[in-house]
Amino acid sequence: MDKPKEHLPKHVAIIMDGNGRWASAHGKARHAGHRAGVRSARAVVEAAAEAGIEVLTLFAFSSENWSRPTDEVNSLMRLFVEVLQREVDALHDNGIQLRFIGARDQLPTILQKRMADAEARTAGNSRMTLVVAIAYGGRWDVLQAVRRIAQKIEAGELQPAELDEAVLSRHMSLAGLPPPDLLIRTGGEYRVSNFLLWDLTYSEIHFCETLWPEFGPEQLEEAVRFFVSRQRRFGRTAAQLEVIGD
Ligand code: IPE
Ligand code: IPE
Ligand code: MG
Repeated sequence: MDKPKEHLPKHVAIIMDGNGRWASAHGKARHAGHRAGVRSARAVVEAAAEAGIEVLTLFAFSSENWSRPTDEVNSLMRLFVEVLQREVDALHDNGIQLRFIGARDQLPTILQKRMADAEARTAGNSRMTLVVAIAYGGRWDVLQAVRRIAQKIEAGELQPAELDEAVLSRHMSLAGLPPPDLLIRTGGEYRVSNFLLWDLTYSEIHFCETLWPEFGPEQLEEAVRFFVSRQRRFGRTAAQLEVIGD
């Protein structure tokens, strides 16, 4: 990507949707769609790191996805375990730091262990942070933050009057990372599906029809071009921004 780095989104978040429809269109089982989706994810992670994006967050499994048929849920869990086993070395060699967000206590123990190992192994890397959302819901995230804050208040470590946006942000799963500048949703659906509700407040949103298994570096570049073309006003007027020279 030939964009000057200062115009690039620092943080890109992606709702990777359309694996099942891609599989159906190719006469395959849904699981084959998820496997094909892993290939897209790998290529997009490499392209994002190459482009100088600092944080990439991928939505892999939502709190609502537990409602899918047991077979599909189980095969997805097995796929996550397998992919982690296979990909962590390459991610580590590429200087990528892995971080998982979501209700990890709901996940199979073996997967929880792989996730913790991958995080520990890559903790010192700084080229790009790859956040993978598994068993994640935006409402779950707000709730877990509020619960931890309530515990601190009960323990006398925090006064209710001290609770402000910054305190809540520090308890959200993406604490310490810039909020997503750009949200991409593939697969032609125009909704947020309980992704990062707190953090998406001012994200630019790019919806595309491409099914996730067909999304690659070119489509990422197109989304980044869309982002670069937007004027981010954060509530101000366009005239104000011209004066500021933003
Ligand atoms: C996204 O693809 C992957 C997950 C939610 C795990 P889908 O599985 O939702 O694919 P479609 O929407 O049925 O095509
Ligand atoms: C959103 O996709 C969740 C992930 C991509 C992991 P879904 O396919 O589950 O979303 P809905 O059900 O169509 O809203
Ligand atoms: Mg879907």
